[in-house]
Amino acid sequence: MGDSTRPSSESIPPRDGYRRVLAQQEKAELERLSALEAIADPHTIALLERIEVGADWRCTELGAGAGSIARWLARRCPAGRLVATDLDTRFLVDLGANAEVRQHDMRTDDFPAGSFDLVHVRSVLEHLPERDEVLPRLAEWVAPGGWLVIEDAVSTSAASPDAQYRRVMGVVEDTLSRTVGTDLQWARTLPQALSALGFTDLMLAPATLVIGAGGPVDRFWRATLTQLAELRTRTGHHDAADLMALAARLDDPSFVELSYTIIAIAGRRA
Ligand SMILES: C[S@@+](CC[C@H](N)C(=O)[O-])C[C@H]1O[C@@H](n2cnc3c(N)ncnc32)[C@H](O)[C@@H]1O
Repeated sequence: MGDSTRPSSESIPPRDGYRRVLAQQEKAELERLSALEAIADPHTIALLERIEVGADWRCTELGAGAGSIARWLARRCPAGRLVATDLDTRFLVDLGANAEVRQHDMRTDDFPAGSFDLVHVRSVLEHLPERDEVLPRLAEWVAPGGWLVIEDAVSTSAASPDAQYRRVMGVVEDTLSRTVGTDLQWARTLPQALSALGFTDLMLAPATLVIGAGGPVDRFWRATLTQLAELRTRTGHHDAADLMALAARLDDPSFVELSYTIIAIAGRRA
């Protein structure tokens, strides 16, 4: 969405865009992360059960956030091990005796090739401008016969018949794109990308979220809209009230719309 008041310094996402934009306020970020876990964990766990994660697997949960899937994997693999990584490890506590927490930037920090039977990453690559270069590195860390599982969101909000929703989501997605480098269409490329990297037995598991129906999706959006409204005000824009008006509609029983589709894909390394 065009915006003549946008400061030009926003047009190149900084390398630490995610941290600067979304993780600044500890309480708000924890609220967003725990809502995301409540939304996405059932779908993630269903897919991890489909690939039959084994008790002795070596797993890594990259960009582990508040750690719910890392905790699940550590419990699921009592004879294996779990390495939970993040740029910001402050929420990665109480993961289990077979778990290691590592401060690790997946863009630049490495693991030896073939280190893991499972590499899982959810809702991180969509935020990294370097995603196309990072993906082949993650793929290298999967051992032969092991699995790469990636989950990212796709937005269809531009096609919404609700004008305010379409407009505010346009501001949200444009702001995330310019300040973080987020791409909410990239996940559509994953089947072809995994196939080109030589992964087989592809399983694609999309889950479409509903906004306005209460529960964790609304909690996630209330926290995200509030954080972004503050950012917009701080950076000299005048549309924070529009973002907060959409947040207020979450309490209106007549408001319900399609939110993101989370695309989860699993592939096995030959
Ligand atoms: C939207 S959260 C998702 C958290 C978790 N994967 C989940 O789905 O619940 C994104 C996480 O990725 C982390 N992150 C962002 N860039 C990263 C990078 N380059 N390397 C490792 N972690 C990163 C953030 O600190 C944050 O915890």
